[in-house]
Amino acid sequence: MNILLLGSGGREHALAWKIAQSAKCSKLFIAPGNAGTEAVGENVAIAVDDFDNLKNFAVEKKVDMIVVGPEDPLVKGVYDIFKEDERTACIPVIGPSKAGAVLEGSKDFAKSFMKRHHIPTAAYETFDGTTIEEGMKFLETLKAPYVLKADGLAAGKGVLIVPTLEEAKKELREMLGGMFGNASAKVVIEEFLSGIECSVFVLTDGTHYQILPEAKDYKRIGEHDTGLNTGGMGSVSPVPFATKEWMEKVEERIIRPTVEGLKEEGIDYKGFIFFGLINVNGEPMVIEYNCRMGDPETESVMLRLKSDLVDLLEGVAEGNLDQRKVEFDRRSAVCVMLVSGGYPENYVKGYPISGLDKVDGAVVFHSGTVLKDGQVVTAGGRVIAVSSYGEDKEEALQKSFAEAQKIVFKDKYFRSDIGQDL
Ligand code: AMP
Ligand code: GLY
Repeated sequence: MNILLLGSGGREHALAWKIAQSAKCSKLFIAPGNAGTEAVGENVAIAVDDFDNLKNFAVEKKVDMIVVGPEDPLVKGVYDIFKEDERTACIPVIGPSKAGAVLEGSKDFAKSFMKRHHIPTAAYETFDGTTIEEGMKFLETLKAPYVLKADGLAAGKGVLIVPTLEEAKKELREMLGGMFGNASAKVVIEEFLSGIECSVFVLTDGTHYQILPEAKDYKRIGEHDTGLNTGGMGSVSPVPFATKEWMEKVEERIIRPTVEGLKEEGIDYKGFIFFGLINVNGEPMVIEYNCRMGDPETESVMLRLKSDLVDLLEGVAEGNLDQRKVEFDRRSAVCVMLVSGGYPENYVKGYPISGLDKVDGAVVFHSGTVLKDGQVVTAGGRVIAVSSYGEDKEEALQKSFAEAQKIVFKDKYFRSDIGQDL
């Protein structure tokens, strides 16, 4: 099978690494990829949302399957765009239709979907510029802290958690006034939930589903979850509180009604569903849906997926995912993200990275790198994911931290407390 993977981050390198191990994959292209994906496939210089060129490329190279990494092309309708063109209609796109990607693209839609299907989530209401006064009144009925969410995609920055009613009212006014542009034309206000978060991943063919290994990610820049939010500073799989019993609750109350709800509503969804969950006194509740895999969760989840990923993706495309087998590696896997100093604020790109060839006890996934005159250089905030296996998470973490020392670039930073809260 010729496979075209869209994306350029650590998630895509981890997916590419796993896809390339499959006997079913004869050729792997990554558009646009990074300096790491080049080692497991062929990078193609086409942007993830340059749909005309992606279609031409897929036809020319006889691509048999498209796998979509990030949400942006999904929310823009890549699934539908390939389907509507007779030259590419028969190429399966792994990822939801535009209507399905709305689960991630609109918080208001996600919340109303959960309400319709009785899926446990925080109580909420949605407001726009015409209902701002009702929004203020709704805030008065809630307890601190206050959770305000821009309805649309806001580069991961659209959620505000504020300590006082006064600030919440001010933020609501500013959000509806255009703080996140059109993304905050509508604002979801919801009840604050207290607990530990966990990311659960599912593949669905629209009817059947298979549950992949779960993971926990570490979002803040500073140790002990302090400082600004980032794309993710590391991940750990398995998550100790995601016991068999807890996962059964997740499946019964959340996964099954979600897959059935999508089908019932006539939404074409063949791809990954990322359930951002929170454990509230032993009960799983949904914080958010994403229509793709997580980053940096994928960098540990792919290590724990023993099954052939391409076989599973083929099951998604053919609608017989129930006949494919998902097997987990019983070992722990962790990912420690090496980032550019200054991230997630200002940082410098273009620093040479050395020592990658010295790593022998971990799997290195490139996140933000490019090849410049034969030299791998930094090209983003998150630069390199160092992923390791261990008999337990402590052993895996020890390996990742030891290997992280061997990789050198100017102003490198990583969190040395990944996994310590579990
Ligand atoms: P979201 O983009 O919806 O995942 O929100 C970003 C982050 O805000 C989540 O990962 C949580 O840490 C936090 N968060 C969102 N909603 C809530 C809530 N209702 N209660 C507590 N924390 C929340
Ligand atoms: N790690 C969280 C995300 O990918 O959105």
